[in-house]
Amino acid sequence: MVDENVYLARYVEDRTGLKLQMARSLNYEIPGTDRRSDSLELAERGFDGLFSSELENPKERVLEIGFGRGEFLLEMAAKRPATAFLGIEISFKRVLKMARKVGRAGLVNVRLIEARGEVVLSDLLPSDFLDEIWVNFSDPWPKDRHARRRIIQAGFVENAAKCLVVGGVLHVATDDVPYAHQIGEVLAGEPLFENAFAPDKWLPEVPGRIQTGYEIDWRAAGRPLHFFAGRRRQVSGSGC
Ligand SMILES: C[S@@+](CC[C@H](N)C(=O)[O-])C[C@H]1O[C@@H](n2cnc3c(N)ncnc32)[C@H](O)[C@@H]1O
Repeated sequence: MVDENVYLARYVEDRTGLKLQMARSLNYEIPGTDRRSDSLELAERGFDGLFSSELENPKERVLEIGFGRGEFLLEMAAKRPATAFLGIEISFKRVLKMARKVGRAGLVNVRLIEARGEVVLSDLLPSDFLDEIWVNFSDPWPKDRHARRRIIQAGFVENAAKCLVVGGVLHVATDDVPYAHQIGEVLAGEPLFENAFAPDKWLPEVPGRIQTGYEIDWRAAGRPLHFFAGRRRQVSGSGC
C-alpha cells in the first residue's frame, strides 16, 4: 500500500526544485499516539480539554514557547508525569519531529501546537491559569532594525504575567548580551512580576536546570548564558 504522505513527498519531488529536499526528509508517520493539536481545538476545548481523560486534574500546567528540537520539554515531561505540558512552536517541521519523539516516548502529558507563542498567550489561554512559562533561547534578532521581532517585549510579558497564577513563574534564557539587557528591562518594567533571582538581575547558571538543545551548543561555543525568572505577584486591583 502506498503511504499517502510518502506519495505527497514524491509528488513535490517531481515538480519542484529546492522544496523537494524538505519534503523528502520529513517522515510524517507518528509512532504511538499523535499528541499534536491546534489553536482551534485549544480555543474550543481549553488547555485542560486537550488532555481529556489522560490527565484530568493536572498537578501543574506548563507552557513552553519555541521548544525547537524539544530536548527540554521531553525531559521535563518525563520527570513530571502528573503535570500537563503544552509546547508551542512556529515551525511545522519542528512540531512534526517533536510529535514523533513524544509518541516514541509514550508521554501522555504533552500536547503540541504549531502557532505563534504571542497569540496563544494573548488570545487562547485564561488569566490566572499557568504555573510556568518557559521561553528558552528565543531568536535574538541581533540587527537593530530586527529587534522588534524578538518575542520578549512588554506586551508579551504582560500577557504572560496575566496567564500565570500568583506565584507562577516566567522563565527566560538567552545567550545574546543585548537581548539579555532588553529582557532584564522588560521584566523589571512589568508590575505583575517580581524578580525571583533578586538581588541578581539574572543568573549565569541555575543549579538543577535541564539543558536545552541550543544551550548545549552555546555552552560548547563558550557563549555567556543569562537566566531570568519573573514570579507573578498579587497586585490588588489588577483584575487578573
Ligand atoms: C533558537 S531556537 C531555540 C530552541 C529551544 N528553545 C532551545 O533552547 O534549544 C528558537 C525556536 O523558537 C521558535 N520560534 C520562533 N518564534 C516563535 C514564536 N513566535 N512562537 C513560537 N515559536 C517560535 C523557532 O522555530 C525555534 O525553534
